[in-house]
Amino acid sequence: MERAHREGFDEQERIEVRASGPLEGSVVIGGAKNSVLKLMAACLLTEGTFVIRNVPDIEDVTVMAEVLRAMGVTVSRSGGALTIERPAAITPEAPYALTEQLRASTAVLGPLLAGAGNARVALPGGDDFGPRPIDMHIAALEIIGGRFEISGGDVYATADNLVGNPVLLEFPSVGATENVMMAAVRAKGTTVIDNAAREPEISDLAGFLNHMGGQVTGAGTSTIVIEGVEELRPVEHTAVSDRIEAATFLAALGVAGGEITLLGARPDHMAMLCRKLGDMGVRTSSDPDGIWAMCSGRLRSADVSTLPYPGLPTDCKPLLVSMLSVAEGVGIVTENLFSGRFRYVDELVRMGADIRTEGHHAVIRGVDRLNGAPVRASDIRAGAALVVAGLAAEGVTVVSDPHHIDRGYEDFAGKLNALGADVRRERPGG
Ligand code: EPU
Repeated sequence: MERAHREGFDEQERIEVRASGPLEGSVVIGGAKNSVLKLMAACLLTEGTFVIRNVPDIEDVTVMAEVLRAMGVTVSRSGGALTIERPAAITPEAPYALTEQLRASTAVLGPLLAGAGNARVALPGGDDFGPRPIDMHIAALEIIGGRFEISGGDVYATADNLVGNPVLLEFPSVGATENVMMAAVRAKGTTVIDNAAREPEISDLAGFLNHMGGQVTGAGTSTIVIEGVEELRPVEHTAVSDRIEAATFLAALGVAGGEITLLGARPDHMAMLCRKLGDMGVRTSSDPDGIWAMCSGRLRSADVSTLPYPGLPTDCKPLLVSMLSVAEGVGIVTENLFSGRFRYVDELVRMGADIRTEGHHAVIRGVDRLNGAPVRASDIRAGAALVVAGLAAEGVTVVSDPHHIDRGYEDFAGKLNALGADVRRERPGG
């Protein structure tokens, strides 16, 4: 698992997208990035050999593996399975060189507190869609006995004894819910998280912890109850399917038309998105193997508002904006989670999209056709959304900085091409 990209080299790498006819066929949806990263962190909780299956071969997983290795953990990949060997003694530190590449590396805080009693984790800083604080993680972990100090850009955490307590989250933060779950599983007594995040990845983590011997109930609802246990054991686990990767192929279908099957996708985790896509003209239904979907004719506009699960995921928003750019009518998109998550819109405008943004809102007037242009991927989902837009654009869309897409998608171009798209990864000199 060598890092696939190098600074400088990336500068010139690009993805070229040409307009696509209808997409046909099936695509295998991988394991959820946002679950796998936390499952990897949870392996810090106890000594032994863990196996996580259905792990996508993506950059964020590679960086998380480096975070664990820096602590003395052995991580190896064989096909879609990661074997993680956590020794008895670890160095509970995550350096800035790694955390700045992967914000989700803050997920080690909870398991390190519970599994090692202390941690030093460099603060990752903001990212392209705004500030990404971890104040809620820290406040919640303090309630169950963690002590924190921030100095020189690092969070120093210690806990002699973690104790179960009621934790009321100010907002159903995914990361804060997960960090508390992973620490409280070893606390003395009962922790009740109220206003917990309800994402399917939280339920996957709860299943993993329970399999390890933890006692977590209520995951998937707003109240999660964790009875602390004294011992945990290593386990084998298959990660839940990636609903955002599945959504990405549905967006591609929306702009290109056609009929596809998303193998392994979980319709029960995508109900709100499928309803919205139905309003826009993309038909979806449960299939024994995943999700079947069809789209013909021009998309219709709809209004979109992002919310914590089970609402419409903020991660799907850039994809929906690409779809609305070529839909019939006007759609208003409201972002309720991240302050700066409209920056990629300027790239779509360069492709001829008619979009105005104002604070948390974007007004999108669908155009008949986009035009290919050089554009830049600024984060994982924005990058994927630009490739999707390219499928509906005349001429060639050249997406630079594709390493952002590699952070969250395994073989994105290859999977789209297998459905009939024309997406080429161009590397300098070959
Ligand atoms: N927030 C705070 N303080 C905190 C934590 C969060 O103010 O201590 C705020 C955030 O700034 C944001 C909101 O709360 O405005 C929601 O953040 P949340 O903690 O729920 O998000 P996260 O755990 O940092 C995960 C996913 C994101 C996804 C969000 C929302 C992972 C690794 N990341 O982030 O996924 O957008 O939940 O669903 O699980 C992606 O995959 O591309 C991605 C960014």
